[in-house]
Amino acid sequence: MALQIHPVGDTLGVEIRNLDPCQPITRRDQETLNTALKNDLVLILRGFPLTDPELIHFSRVFGELDPPGPNPYGETLLADYPELNVISNVIENGRPIGNLGAGEAVWHADLTYVDQPPKAAVLHALELPHSGGNTYFANMYAAYDALDDHLKGRVQGLCAIHDAAHNSAGMRRKGYGEIKDVRQTPGARQPLVRTDPDTGRKALFLGRRPHSYILGLDLQDSERLLDQLWAHATQRQFTFTHEWRVADTLIWNNLSVLHRRDAFDGSARRIMHRAQIRGDAVIL
Ligand code: OGA
Ligand code: MN
Repeated sequence: MALQIHPVGDTLGVEIRNLDPCQPITRRDQETLNTALKNDLVLILRGFPLTDPELIHFSRVFGELDPPGPNPYGETLLADYPELNVISNVIENGRPIGNLGAGEAVWHADLTYVDQPPKAAVLHALELPHSGGNTYFANMYAAYDALDDHLKGRVQGLCAIHDAAHNSAGMRRKGYGEIKDVRQTPGARQPLVRTDPDTGRKALFLGRRPHSYILGLDLQDSERLLDQLWAHATQRQFTFTHEWRVADTLIWNNLSVLHRRDAFDGSARRIMHRAQIRGDAVIL
């Protein structure tokens, strides 16, 4: 049976059917998957448990891998597979085995605090709590398109700082001090509007709200505009919710969606392994 793509969300998200990620994937299917990542923004593959080498091998369908960003503990999480990140609340021998704990992860895109953020992430569910920990995605093409003309004009050409010091759970990464003035936030400067180099389509590119600052504006104006953009971009009509099952693999277009995660019961175990796909330079 040929690979099939089934829409699952109103604004983004497709389920990939009839694809075994552990078998060789034809060039044609690889192209179909990459086109879906461009247009549908989140791909969902269900029912295939992956070992770490299998996850790495499948992720390469989407490009070269980038290493994980720095974590709060300053250590490589999977010594044998340093290209993978671990997202987990589990603590073993007094040491967290992964990032983000069991709390909410606020709306963000991954690693946008570096100059060349990954273009996609591949997240694979190994162990899950019975409930909680849903992940939400918001379509930043749709959010940009729905801005009024005044706001479209206002954001064009502006850049914001994307905070490198904290992860999306609000934990400070090793080696960073407290941020007292957001105008001094460490992290990459990114355009508020990102243009896709292939299609010319524009997306809002907001990264993360905490500790952000729009360069060149008064602090108060920056706060007001950021609040307005974030309230707009995370409205329900732009979002899709994923309820995880063990052996799900999600691939998201990191430069065109935001994502957030619900909190879950901290006494339950949730373990995900993640690869990130190298991106191209961001074009103004
Ligand atoms: C991530 C992330 C959400 C989740 O891996 O970048 O934000 O559901 N994870 O764990
Ligand atoms: Mn994330």
